[in-house]
Amino acid sequence: MQLSDILIEGPWGERHLLGLEKLSAGQIETVLNLAEHLDRVTEGGTRKLDVLRGLVVANLFFENSTRTKTSFSLAARRLGADTVDFTASSSSLSKGETFIDTALTIEAMGVHLVVCRHRTPGTPHLLARHLKSGVLNAGDGTHEHPTQGLLDILTIRRRFGHIHGLTVALVGDIRHSRVARSNIHGLLKLGARVIVCGPSTLVPQEISKLGVEVACNLDKILPEVDCVNLLRVQFERQRGAFFPSIAEYAHFFGMNGQRIRRAKDHLLVLAPGPINRGVELTPEVADGPHSAILNQVSNGLLVRMACLSLLAKEAGIQAPVAAAGGAV
Ligand code: CP
Repeated sequence: MQLSDILIEGPWGERHLLGLEKLSAGQIETVLNLAEHLDRVTEGGTRKLDVLRGLVVANLFFENSTRTKTSFSLAARRLGADTVDFTASSSSLSKGETFIDTALTIEAMGVHLVVCRHRTPGTPHLLARHLKSGVLNAGDGTHEHPTQGLLDILTIRRRFGHIHGLTVALVGDIRHSRVARSNIHGLLKLGARVIVCGPSTLVPQEISKLGVEVACNLDKILPEVDCVNLLRVQFERQRGAFFPSIAEYAHFFGMNGQRIRRAKDHLLVLAPGPINRGVELTPEVADGPHSAILNQVSNGLLVRMACLSLLAKEAGIQAPVAAAGGAV
């Protein structure tokens, strides 16, 4: 099977996936539709394909990750690509090698696509300017996390069948959240109403310029909401105290059984993870019938397979044709 055999019609044309801000609604829908198609072709991600055979995907993670790194690796291997996992803490960065020299070195080993996570906003954009490879942003500081935004949107679309007309609340640490920005760009383009809600210290006022509504009382907005995405409090990015105590945060902004009972019956609860049980949501909600947290993880595999395929196509990478009678 060739890459062209699994690709479907739809606008794309991007060499890199750096964020959702610059993508059109049509391009976002191309990723979502391809993810759905790959779900069918791979029988739920269980059937391995060989459409990216010969392609090498490097995971360059300069920040910790469980979901994104594992998911990109598995997505690449499910499509027949080889993967290289780079861990900053055990690399020659400690000997003074620069970030760009590190990336160029890994690329020189025959890499075609680079997945990058870094604490500094704009790092994947910098890589895209220096490398020949296609670059996928796996989270750059507080800026964007495009594949998380796409998998969140796919999870919502799978539940409701559409995005247009839905009200989605992003609740929590909006100030430090790259997931919030990618969700905002993607959801607005697809016609959702987006409300951001959190302690006033964690919701920058200028966020309303993106086209979202700003709220500081979760109980007031909850009855209008179809989907709530509970963003983690990013303690590792905060300088100083943004609220008096975790207990107070959970009291005002945590999703719990009482709040679920006051919400719409069909409320969809998302959380990008990792979750802090008892802070953004109680275990009763995390493990309850409204929660799609593990569906998000499964959908992440489909979205990342779709993104890798689209970028491989733009890079002109084709699986080598097997010799007659040879194994594929
Ligand atoms: N949601 C997310 O990006 O999780 P990881 O940090 O585990 O990759």
